[in-house]
Amino acid sequence: MSRDLFEAARAAMAKAYAPYSKFPVGAALRTEDGRIYSGCNIEVASYPEGWCAETTALGHYVMGGGGKITEIAVVAERMARVTPCGGCRQRLAEFAGADAKLYLCDETGVVETVPMGAMLPYGFEGEVLK
Ligand code: THU
Repeated sequence: MSRDLFEAARAAMAKAYAPYSKFPVGAALRTEDGRIYSGCNIEVASYPEGWCAETTALGHYVMGGGGKITEIAVVAERMARVTPCGGCRQRLAEFAGADAKLYLCDETGVVETVPMGAMLPYGFEGEVLK
């Protein structure tokens, strides 16, 4: 992975609004045309109303025009190898194919690379709803 995706995730993490958990997270997605979309977690005093960094990044991705996602990086200040939560795995799987690479990072860089296809076995697929 070129370092810019990790740097984008880390820069996003610096913008996290996480006054309740004090657990800042950053995520960045790259599309095949080279664009990068990033996001941080945003918490709300009514706790369940907050959302994850991956979700913010996906919002930017959709608004930016979407496209094929080739790589995703996720980083958290307080975890050596943060992995997306279950809900974010479902959201990421909506837009990223099984071959997209997911980079699990610590504050210094990539710790582990996992294909998106390994992240949500037996996940719900929406084809039948279309
Ligand atoms: N969080 C994320 O942003 N992404 C994840 O994949 C895991 C959890 C956030 C949500 C909440 O703001 C904080 O981390 C603690 O759960």
